[in-house]
Amino acid sequence: MPDVTLTTLRALKQKGEKITMLTCYDATFADACSKAGVEVLLIGDSLGMVLQGHDSTLPVSMADTLYHTASVKRGNAGALIIADLPFMANATLEQTLHNSGLLMQAGAHMVKVEGAAWLAESITKLAERGVPVCAHMGLTPQAVNILGGYKVQGREHNQARQMVADAIALEQAGAAMLLLECVPSDLAGEISRTVKVPVIGIGAGPQTDGQVLVLHDMLGLSLSGRVPKFVKNFMSGQPSIQDALAAYVKEVKAVSFPAAEHGFSA
Ligand code: KIV
Ligand code: NA
Repeated sequence: MPDVTLTTLRALKQKGEKITMLTCYDATFADACSKAGVEVLLIGDSLGMVLQGHDSTLPVSMADTLYHTASVKRGNAGALIIADLPFMANATLEQTLHNSGLLMQAGAHMVKVEGAAWLAESITKLAERGVPVCAHMGLTPQAVNILGGYKVQGREHNQARQMVADAIALEQAGAAMLLLECVPSDLAGEISRTVKVPVIGIGAGPQTDGQVLVLHDMLGLSLSGRVPKFVKNFMSGQPSIQDALAAYVKEVKAVSFPAAEHGFSA
């Protein structure tokens, strides 16, 4: 796979080919995922749950994220690397710029921040300084204590209209990508058709420009025993992890994953 860049991802959206993304936290899996054709690797703060065993993403530190980003970079063969800014790493504009700089120097090609239209100023400042930003909207797990649980977002009419408006505002502010988590499939489709930047979905149905899953989830591993409805176990019927990763790429490209049962209605 030739090196994937933002230009590659924009071209994929333009020609209607789905973008494949998985979370990834170490060198060996970075090698396996990128060689399977996964175009984007995310050092998600989900590492707090799947690697560290916490019950939320809040305990994840910048040091943790930098360690895993540097590890992924060493194993990666051509995928675009995105690193999450962990909880409170973007508490102020100064911290946002400083911490994003550290993630880029550790090997990220883009940073991801959770929020909505209020992210606009920091997204503009980061883009001006050479840092592409993915804005994570919908269910934002760092805000679980505000949201009152891991629930579908945007089911209510006004909230849905607000999400569309926020997506437009963040694109105008210079966001390079949007990510929608646990959003009704039709709303995710509307947002994907409204903005020109690639929109990646998780629990957001088949109409987004690409898909992401947590690596451990799609390999059928579950620490809590609770598997979200949007997850599919790609290990089932496959002889190896490498085959499961290839099956994921194939099904996302063919738009056979996600199926209707993996999505949410309004
Ligand atoms: O941390 C993570 O794994 C994420 C994905 C669920 C999108 O943010
Ligand atoms: Na995350």
